[in-house]
Amino acid sequence: MTGIIYGTGACTPSYIMDNNDIAKLVETSDEWIQERTGVARRHIITEETTVSMAVQAGRRALENAGVSPEEVDLILVATISSNVILPCTACQVQKELGAIHATCFDLGGAACTGFVLAYNTATAYLAGGVYKTALVIGSESLSNLTNWKDRGTCILFGDGAGAAVVKAGGERYYLPVTHSEGSKGDALTCKSRYQGNGLTSEINLEEMIDDEHFMQMDGQAVFKFAVKKVPEVIREVLEANEIEQEDVDYYILHQANQRIVEAVAKRLKEPIEKFPMNLQEYGNTSSASIPILLDELNRKGILKSGQKIVMAGFGAGLTWGASILKWK
Ligand code: COA
Repeated sequence: MTGIIYGTGACTPSYIMDNNDIAKLVETSDEWIQERTGVARRHIITEETTVSMAVQAGRRALENAGVSPEEVDLILVATISSNVILPCTACQVQKELGAIHATCFDLGGAACTGFVLAYNTATAYLAGGVYKTALVIGSESLSNLTNWKDRGTCILFGDGAGAAVVKAGGERYYLPVTHSEGSKGDALTCKSRYQGNGLTSEINLEEMIDDEHFMQMDGQAVFKFAVKKVPEVIREVLEANEIEQEDVDYYILHQANQRIVEAVAKRLKEPIEKFPMNLQEYGNTSSASIPILLDELNRKGILKSGQKIVMAGFGAGLTWGASILKWK
């Protein structure tokens, strides 16, 4: 027995910044950003927070699944951008949804691998019979961690949340494969943080002079890591579960960069049509990117019963991993 996704939900801020808006902040252009990353727009919080987006995505996922908040016995939130350190985002989601029977905790610091790791944690609990119904969420206000004066990073990121209701069931447990390489952690760091982003909140960007308050990244190192490790871990997870590439319907990759997704498809010798993308609209939303995309595909009716999906995440740590799921 393992977990089956019964429903999905997402919430993205209504305020949209396109690449021309970014070009007013740093020396760049729409053409450069689209060519190097594929990103055209990103949604940025104004009134929304990591908690409010997680609540909304979670509520929509429960509605989509036809599951009541009282039925949920586990809430996991993957986030690197919680509103506050304590209480955790998952407990605040519990409160807002009225999921009174749920055990709640965050997976902090799992970054862009966060949703895959949270999903794996939930399915392991479900397979072990510890819990029956899990709400797994990725929610991020990355704009609060972004240095809006650094053109090497600020072009990439956006805010949003995605969620999935996972219930015990299904005929087999798909083993996930995950890896970490702490020795390469310097490639993507954030040593401290502000609450607020200086764009849509009151923090004064001119006073934000200490780079350590923001994400810092060696873009080329992260790019090389992703295009090498993601195809490797996808092959590993398929081998571990004795599944052939031709039996995979979709690869849902963390939405970091169109060039990374295309390179992974090429290395796996798979058609790009098996790699849906929505990073053009949202940029890189870290732990939220996979469930936002999953929700989009679900609501458009693109996912059909019995289809096999590989999810793959990668990011700071460095961490990366892949999981297989069969659509309900
Ligand atoms: N606009 C215009 N020019 C830019 C720019 C921008 N936003 N950012 C960098 N440049 C310039 C650089 O200064 C450099 O100029 P130079 O040749 O005169 O020195 C040139 O463009 C090339 O820079 P480089 O850093 O080599 O670009 P790149 O092709 O590696 O693209 C990233 C940069 C960040 C888009 C790319 O490295 C990337 O996407 N990496 C992965 C990041 C990622 O996905 N991180 C999250 C993972 S979870």
